[in-house]
Amino acid sequence: MKPKIYITRKLPEEIVNYLQEHCDVKMWEKEDVPVPRNILEREIKDVDGLYCLLTENIDKSLLDQAKHLKIVSNMAVGYNNIDIKYASERGIKVTNTPEVLTETTADLTFALLMTTARRLVEVSEVVRNGEWKTWSPMAYTGQDIYGATLGIVGMGRIGEALAKRAKGFDMNILYYNRSRKIETENKLGVKYVDFESLLSESDFICIMTPYTHETRNLFGSREFSLMKPTAILINTARGGIVNEEALYQALIAKEIWAAGLDVFENEPVDTNHPLLKLSNVVSLPHVGSASIKTRIEMGILAATNLVEGVSGRVPPNQVN
Ligand code: GLV
Repeated sequence: MKPKIYITRKLPEEIVNYLQEHCDVKMWEKEDVPVPRNILEREIKDVDGLYCLLTENIDKSLLDQAKHLKIVSNMAVGYNNIDIKYASERGIKVTNTPEVLTETTADLTFALLMTTARRLVEVSEVVRNGEWKTWSPMAYTGQDIYGATLGIVGMGRIGEALAKRAKGFDMNILYYNRSRKIETENKLGVKYVDFESLLSESDFICIMTPYTHETRNLFGSREFSLMKPTAILINTARGGIVNEEALYQALIAKEIWAAGLDVFENEPVDTNHPLLKLSNVVSLPHVGSASIKTRIEMGILAATNLVEGVSGRVPPNQVN
C-alpha cells in the first residue's frame, strides 16, 4: 500500500503526478485559499506525510491530531510556521526548500532596494495619474545606490547572493551575523561589524535572517533611532523581525527615509495597515521566490523531500 499524504494547496500538475506515482494523494483543491484549519486537523489524522506551505501553522495542537505522521515537507526555505521542537520530540521529520530560491530571492531583494531608493512605484503613479507637469530640479529625487553602504543582517546563502549583486554597484558591504563568515569576507570583501555599527553606518539595511525567538522584533524604536535619517530598510525575510508600529513611527518622524517590505507580521496585510498609507513604503505580497522556474523547483524539491521521508529514508533537506 502506498503511503498516504495530504497537500495543503493545489499544486502544478507535474508535481502532483510525481507524488501520485509514490503516494496515495489527497489535496486541498484551491489555489488562492489556504486550507481551513478544521479540514487540516481532520486530514492530518491518518496521513504519513504532509506537504504544506508557509501559510499553515503546524503547531503542537495540529501535530497532536496526527497519528502516523513521519514528515512535514514545507515548500519554503523558512520554517518558522512549524513547531520544530515538538515535531522532533515526536520523531516527525521536517524539511524545507533551500538553495533553489537563493538567486531569485536575492534578485527580488535588490529590485526592492532599487525601487524604494528611487521611489519607482510612487513616481510611476505620478505619470499614470496625469500629475507629471514638468522636469524639475529636485522633483522625484531619491537616494543613490551606486557606491552606498549596504548593511546585510544575516549572512546566509541569500545574504551572500545579495552581496554579489551589491558588488556590481560598487557598494561598501557590511554584515552582521551570529557567527563571523571569514571565507565570505575573503571571497566577497564584505566587512563584519557589530549590530549597532551596521545600523548607524548603513545607507541600506537588508534583513536576511531567519525568523526565530531571537530575531522577533529585532528592529524596534531603539534600532531605528540609531539609523541614518536617509537610511532605507528592506525586509524580504519575515514580517515579525520588524516591529511594524515602531517602523511606522520612525518613518513619520523621519528617523529613517523609507522602507521596502515584501513581508508583514500578518499576511495578507490588511489594506488599512498604517504602513500602506505612507508614500515612502513600497509593499509587495511576499514574492521573494516568485519566479516560475524557482517556484516549480521549490515544489519539486518539497515533493522529493516528502517521498523520501514517507519511505523512511533521510530526505535531502531535513532541518531537525
Ligand atoms: C519564503 O518566504 C520562503 O521562506 O521560502
